Amino acid sequence: MSSYQIKSQEEYFQVYQQSIQKPEIFWNTIAKEHFMWRKQWDNVINFDFDNAHFKWFDGAELNITENCIDRHLLTRGDKTALLFEPNDPSQPNEHITYSDLYHRVCKMANVLYDMGIEKGDRVCVYLPMIPELVVTVLACARVGAVHSVVFAGFSAVALSSRIVDSSCKMVVTSDGSFRGSKIIPLKPIVDEALKECTSVKHVLVVERTKTEIVMEPNRDFWLAPLLEKASAQFPAVVVQAEDPLFILYTSGSTGSPKGMLHTCAGYMVYAGYSFNNVFQYQEEDTFWCSADVGWITGHSYIIYGPLLNGATSLLYEGILSFPDFGRFWDIIAKHKVNQFYTAPTAIRALAKESLAFVKDKDLSTLKVIGTVGEPINEEAWHWYNNNIGKKNCPVVDTWFQTETGGILISPIPYATPTIPTYATLPLPGIQLALMDDVGNEIKGNQVEGRLCIKYPWPSMARTIWGDHKRYQETYFSSFKKMYFTGDGARRNEVGYYRITGRVDDVIIVSGHNLGTAPIEDAINEHPHIAESAVVGFPHDIKGNALYGYVILKDLKENHNLDTLRTEINALISERISPIAKLDKIQFTVGLPKTRSGKIMRRILRKIANKEGDQLGDISTLLNPQVIQEIIDNSI
Ligand code: WT7
Repeated sequence: MSSYQIKSQEEYFQVYQQSIQKPEIFWNTIAKEHFMWRKQWDNVINFDFDNAHFKWFDGAELNITENCIDRHLLTRGDKTALLFEPNDPSQPNEHITYSDLYHRVCKMANVLYDMGIEKGDRVCVYLPMIPELVVTVLACARVGAVHSVVFAGFSAVALSSRIVDSSCKMVVTSDGSFRGSKIIPLKPIVDEALKECTSVKHVLVVERTKTEIVMEPNRDFWLAPLLEKASAQFPAVVVQAEDPLFILYTSGSTGSPKGMLHTCAGYMVYAGYSFNNVFQYQEEDTFWCSADVGWITGHSYIIYGPLLNGATSLLYEGILSFPDFGRFWDIIAKHKVNQFYTAPTAIRALAKESLAFVKDKDLSTLKVIGTVGEPINEEAWHWYNNNIGKKNCPVVDTWFQTETGGILISPIPYATPTIPTYATLPLPGIQLALMDDVGNEIKGNQVEGRLCIKYPWPSMARTIWGDHKRYQETYFSSFKKMYFTGDGARRNEVGYYRITGRVDDVIIVSGHNLGTAPIEDAINEHPHIAESAVVGFPHDIKGNALYGYVILKDLKENHNLDTLRTEINALISERISPIAKLDKIQFTVGLPKTRSGKIMRRILRKIANKEGDQLGDISTLLNPQVIQEIIDNSI
């Protein structure tokens, strides 16, 4: 019916139309022609929005690792599957071929199996960005176990609650991790976390930093000697299409983290298809996604998406500022990276530094550059396009969520003309809707509303681990027969989507709906301002008023803060409306952020409401140390 990789705008529109008119035929063809099955499905899709039950390729049998590895062995055995760039640039790289990967995953699968891990068991993976992380994830999939990767920057409390929630039988970790010039001990965090967990029988430890650690007899084992003894063959355990593949925790706007459950067949098909199209991967390309495997971006676009396509995927252990702010550009030059995928927060951090870090770096191999995770402001988009893409690479502003499993809205390079700050159009198979507050779909263009998806797609999360009711209520109760994303979006005159931010961040001032994102964009246009966050606080007359936290670009300069405040409000009045002017403006050195780079407005809201003493658990923040300074200087 259609080719796999979309090559033109005309083809996109044609494929998109087919995909929504006959979704079953569309997905049936893709699944059949581009993946390897032990048994074909009985039905492409069964769904029931009311009870939030979705099944894709029901009746099929498969193992995702046969699709990621085994089927490439004949034609790509010597091709690099994983290209490992260590934290320290003077250390050697590792080129792990598809055939190496096969043997390493089989050995690890044997180790897991010998330790009693069976189909359906949960394994918590708490590892730095090293090859063992990818190998462990795939080995879990090979034995039919469910991996639950927890970002190795999370605290013992956060780790413990995640292990308990999904009653993991095993934890795979390392002695420590290298991050820039620092060594961060990991095993002691696991020890602390396990004090409260009864389900964990064994801890496997990768030696990475040679940090001294305590090993508990009969529970903790060094991994290397076990791998050495293990056989390099492990027949993949055949699983059902809807058997669980992984759990990945994401924070909700309230309550405990949600363990989003993804299943085997649908996730595989969508991760493979979306990777191929959004990045226009070609056989000889080297792809680099700078996210951490601890997030969905890393699951889908470091591991599964690339390997399903027989790609070379770069895995970088370190941080963007080590040994200096030119590291990303050094890596791209050194490995001749063709597609680079990062986050707006990283772009803004790099754009703040001197252009000297970019100059003289050979970025000429780049063909596509992408972003994900939050709205990208216009300034950052242009900086990225001009200085990294050299106006020669399509910028793919990709929208998705932990819950969606893969990218749902994105330009397709060379097919979709881009516009700064617009994620543009839905990928084939994705049916979007904008909804108003009372549950009606807003049709037509140049409109704004709540972003929903009105037809299932293969990689949607199937439930929240252990709490299907919460899954149904969070995603399927706001609007009838639709998935509600929690985001707001605008559809412009040509039907392009711009994600305007979480609708839970909307602030009503004097009866006017104000989103924080456009106000922050206006503030950030000021030449002296690096970043800002706006929250609401109670106001006698307006209901809510706005409180802005603002980071200056250069603190050493002698700014007149009152002049700056006036200028900021003038900008807001000009760009949005005088209604959106800030009542209070606090200059600060940092903003509290999650590990994935999102500003924690909940915390800023509390501080603005003079409830700085009731912040709750802030241990999972990227930078908890900024909080006290913000409280001390609050207005
Ligand atoms: C939320 C999901 C998806 C991988 C990383 C984050 C925001 C994501 C974009 C984008 C504007 C974006 C949304 C979404 N978001 N991509 N291109 N433009 N906003 O995954 O932690 O599950 O967060 O990230 O608000 O709902 P996540």
